[in-house]
Amino acid sequence: ASGQALPQAPAAGAVAAVGDAPTLTILFGSQTGNSKGVAQSLQAKMEAAGYTSKLVSMADFKPRQIKNETHLAIVASTHGEGEPPDDAIELHEFLGSKKAPKVEKLKYAVLSLGDSSYEFFCQTGKDFDERLAKLGGKAVLSRVDCDVDYEAEAQAWCEKLIDTLKEDFTTQGSAAVAMQTGAAVSTGTAVQAYTKKAPFNATLLTSQKITGRDSVKDIRHIEISLEDSGIAYQVGDALGVWFKNDASLADDIITLIQASADQSVDVGGQQMTFKEALVQKLELTLSYPGFVKAYQEASQCEALATLMEDKAAFREYLSDRQIVDIVREHPHPVPAQRFVEACRPLTPRLYSIASSQAEVEDEVHLTIAHVEYDAFGKRHQGGASGYLCERLEEGGEVEVFVEPNDNFRLPENTDTPVIMIGPGTGIAPFRAFMQERDAQGAEGKNWLFFGNPNFTQDFLYQVEWQSYVKSGLLSKISLAFSRDQKEKIYVQHRLLEEGKAVFEWLEEGAHLYVCGDANHMAKDVEAALLEIIKTHGGKDDQEAKAYLVGLRKAKRYQKDVY
Ligand code: 2AM
Repeated sequence: ASGQALPQAPAAGAVAAVGDAPTLTILFGSQTGNSKGVAQSLQAKMEAAGYTSKLVSMADFKPRQIKNETHLAIVASTHGEGEPPDDAIELHEFLGSKKAPKVEKLKYAVLSLGDSSYEFFCQTGKDFDERLAKLGGKAVLSRVDCDVDYEAEAQAWCEKLIDTLKEDFTTQGSAAVAMQTGAAVSTGTAVQAYTKKAPFNATLLTSQKITGRDSVKDIRHIEISLEDSGIAYQVGDALGVWFKNDASLADDIITLIQASADQSVDVGGQQMTFKEALVQKLELTLSYPGFVKAYQEASQCEALATLMEDKAAFREYLSDRQIVDIVREHPHPVPAQRFVEACRPLTPRLYSIASSQAEVEDEVHLTIAHVEYDAFGKRHQGGASGYLCERLEEGGEVEVFVEPNDNFRLPENTDTPVIMIGPGTGIAPFRAFMQERDAQGAEGKNWLFFGNPNFTQDFLYQVEWQSYVKSGLLSKISLAFSRDQKEKIYVQHRLLEEGKAVFEWLEEGAHLYVCGDANHMAKDVEAALLEIIKTHGGKDDQEAKAYLVGLRKAKRYQKDVY
């Protein structure tokens, strides 16, 4: 078997694929589930067309199997500085290595998901495309690189692909539907009545600062009521939050480009006032190169044109500015409709859920860093965090939906030990995990690694952890307060100090979870883990790496990093 099939209910009266009808293998490499969602929707469309397909996570796909494939669809997302998601690492590396076989009979198509505000936009998808072509595969469709608002493009790609496959696939008769054998691992992900497109209008119950008044951070504990929604979430899931921009930002822009607030504009086929569009529909608190290009064209700004010529300087310029800063520095009269088209549509932000419904029932809790700073003589706030932490009042309404995350799940066996590494707001899902383990009466040991700047100011949910230690639910807690002494102490330093015990827990079958900063923390933690496996497991570099890959494949090393 090439791997484990995902749960897929065969349609009523489905028959197994006949004869030597071709099968499209749909491979996805997902971190947050977006690629998986697209892959699932491609499979549903294949099924509706009566074609056979097989949905497989890259994590479960044996790279050598590639030589047996005839039709392959790849949906892959990119992270950080052009890196593949964890699930895709092995296949990505293999296809670029000398070990990779020729795939001359392979027909393939690639869809990449990414974020154009990063330099290596959609790099993972580009790599897959390039590597398969180099190995002799034939692209039956040109690759599509999607930005954060990927849905429409992704659906169009799926449909085009099915159309392209028609010739090869019609031989099998329209009633044939893939029957996945065995392995219907139901993770119990509830079907959501409320979705990104049709969110639930929830109520903000509580917004409380949980860092001290002298803290360098402003972190909030947020409680939202889901009453009467019937929404069910699992620990490990994220909450999608639609936010509204600060009205004063909208007013600034309107003045700067000499437009008027109540003139009518078209946003994706919807008519509304320019101000409504700025507040509710457009990304104003990020910066992305596409905006500058379009704004420059609309304004004919010479300074911006010059700036864009030097790629490195341009990146640097974008890195610490929001859209509004660019307009403030280069104000020009621009028609409102042109401005709308220069902006990216607003997308919801995802926050790791910090509660379990076993404990909080129809509420959902979040742990949010309120992003706020002064720059260029103005106060700046994060779009969604500013909305949730400041502009929205308790009792106010906020549109939300659950984003399931099957890549961050507690072990099914409640006796299995768990190690949780979550500095800063990375603590959120572990509060949910402990509430869940508590409700389960789980016997497995639990160990938390937490870090933040100062003990007195930043020990998030201190009282709760202490009571879990007292009750015995939390077997161990290791704390790293980075600024309480001269030299920095981080969670990875605590891991290394406890290396022997960490390795013993792993050998006992512990599941390991990391949540928080992706760029520095998660990488440093991974390096520490490799060091521990080497030192305490008596392994060399290669063996330690293989040990970690083994954990990842067994779903015992899971990350929720951002
Ligand atoms: P610092 O801000 O004092 O450098 C949560 O943000 C905690 O993570 C803070 O204590 C922060 O320390 C720390 N931190 C910063 N960089 C880190 C890294 N590379 N690895 C682990 N923790 C880090």
